[in-house]
Amino acid sequence: MAHGDQMNHSGKPKEGRKTFFRLLSYLACDKSLLFVIGFLIIIGIVTSLLGSYMIRPIINDYIIPGDYNGLVRILLILGGIYLVGVVAVYIQYILLNKIGQRTVTRMRTDLFGKMEHLPIKYFDTHQHGDLMSRYTNDIDRISDALTDSLSDILSSALTLIGIFCLMLYISPILTLVVLITVPVMFLFARLIVSRSRRYFKAQQESLGNINGYIEEMISGQKVIKVFGHEEKVEADFDIQNRDLRDKSLKAQFYSGLMMPVMQNLNTLNYVIITIVGALLAIYRGFDVGGLAAFLQYSRQFGRPINELASLYNNIQAAFAGAERIFQIIDEAPEEADIPDAVELKGIKGDVEMKNVVFGYKPEKTILKGVSMHALPGCKIALVGATGAGKTTILNLLPRFFDIREGEITIDGHPINRVTRNSLRQSMAIVLQDTHLFTGTVRENIRFGRLEATDEEVMEAAKLTAAHSFIKRLPHGYDTLLENDGANLSQGQRQLLNIARAAVADPSILLLDEATSNIDTRSEILIQKGLDKLMEGRTSLIIAHRLSTIRNADLILVLEQGQIIEQGSHDELIRLKGKYFTLNQEQFNPH
Ligand SMILES: Nc1ncnc2c1ncn2[C@@H]1O[C@H](COP(=O)(O)OP(=O)(O)OP(=O)(O)O)[C@@H](O)[C@H]1O
Ligand SMILES: [Mg+2]
Repeated sequence: MAHGDQMNHSGKPKEGRKTFFRLLSYLACDKSLLFVIGFLIIIGIVTSLLGSYMIRPIINDYIIPGDYNGLVRILLILGGIYLVGVVAVYIQYILLNKIGQRTVTRMRTDLFGKMEHLPIKYFDTHQHGDLMSRYTNDIDRISDALTDSLSDILSSALTLIGIFCLMLYISPILTLVVLITVPVMFLFARLIVSRSRRYFKAQQESLGNINGYIEEMISGQKVIKVFGHEEKVEADFDIQNRDLRDKSLKAQFYSGLMMPVMQNLNTLNYVIITIVGALLAIYRGFDVGGLAAFLQYSRQFGRPINELASLYNNIQAAFAGAERIFQIIDEAPEEADIPDAVELKGIKGDVEMKNVVFGYKPEKTILKGVSMHALPGCKIALVGATGAGKTTILNLLPRFFDIREGEITIDGHPINRVTRNSLRQSMAIVLQDTHLFTGTVRENIRFGRLEATDEEVMEAAKLTAAHSFIKRLPHGYDTLLENDGANLSQGQRQLLNIARAAVADPSILLLDEATSNIDTRSEILIQKGLDKLMEGRTSLIIAHRLSTIRNADLILVLEQGQIIEQGSHDELIRLKGKYFTLNQEQFNPH
């Protein structure tokens, strides 16, 4: 209520209101719990207001007439009322904690669910640490605000209304006085609030940046050390750290202003009412008990306003956090499959690219009209200089990125007309940069096909020559891999990635520099395995070492996003073109 009002006058009204309702919709999932909490809040408020009101009959009916037995009785009743209030508030806090945790759990689920549906492009263009920061800092802010501030806001707002009614009942004239002083307080509150909101958002952004930076520096420690960039990195960090400090300071300053300003105004308010009330009591016969009760209320009237103001700190941070989370939830997901998308099933593996034009960014074209045709079960090799676009071609087949012009078909189906799931299931890919998850060796291989049996996992490992090194690991297949397989050599990691592709048993196999990290002797071993693996499957292989692709059915030579030569090894050698030169360079470097 009062809260929505405040947002209205902040820096970005629309967004603030939208965020507020969206947060509310997350809470609304626990309607029954909210209902109970609301009920408890009302009990808490009623008991507190009733307790304050009782000072009027206590003074007027018992203290002034001197009825001490009656006084004891009414004090006992008062105690009972307060006790009920305390219990209600206690239970209310327990339930709030629960609802807060459940809400952020839902948000985390949505955030993660969304993340899994974001296109690869998103991860290419956003700092990972900043994304992480949304799971941690931003979620924390929201949960803090929900558990601590939500009930306070509700009860503050309701208390305000309750007190107002009671004040009106006790003395309309004094209420009028309050009605003049309180808007002034509100005005000040709004002034400060509109400032601090801006700085809170800046603070969260800065925090995200710094987290992104730290994450990058942690994963890049080796490179930093080797090139001796520690000082440079520290200096950069310093700049970001200072930026965060400045923004936090500003945010804290404005929210910190709130308390003292409001308190002083509140005291002033109290003094004015006392004077007017005393005059009324002397000249108009206003009852003393009524004045005492009114003064209590006027103090309490200022308190919820103060509370709303001080809660503002938490609320601002929570709103900024929520906005950052909703930002991701609102990101465009990978485009949905077209309505009548075909399921690719039992395919033969005929892959064709027709005049494919593609660029990661609109302003830069990487592939300039690539055409090729891989017949089922063929082994196609892509060769070419660094940056020629080899990996890019592989990225297009599972639709990590969508092509700009031309067409890619699998068994005659254009890949943008089949379901992404079935498309991706029909192929396995071994990436240039390997990735292993935290888990055992077995689990990592099984990631290729979750329902593979232990025997199938071992078969795949044997086929790809990974078996012999796995056997020598301390716990064999049950060895735990951590931190992207940091306890393995690069080549071993690559072997596990190949085994993972093998266990997937796909019709189409995409290998990007799969053997580049493996010594020449093991390579011969793996080559045999790979040859077996590739039997009966359409394979696209990228290799820098030309010896590994000599037996390919078709070799495509790529230069600056175009295929400049194609044919078998012998044909291309006879052609004495680019491939011939590359071969010369690799095998007779002098
Ligand atoms: N995610 C990306 N976003 C923007 N541009 C990219 C991205 N990945 C690659 N590029 C650009 O596309 C071009 C082709 O890159 P690609 O990775 O396909 O080369 P490559 O032939 O696989 O090279 P290498 O042999 O070094 O692996 C390069 O100029 C590169 O700068
Ligand atoms: Mg590459």
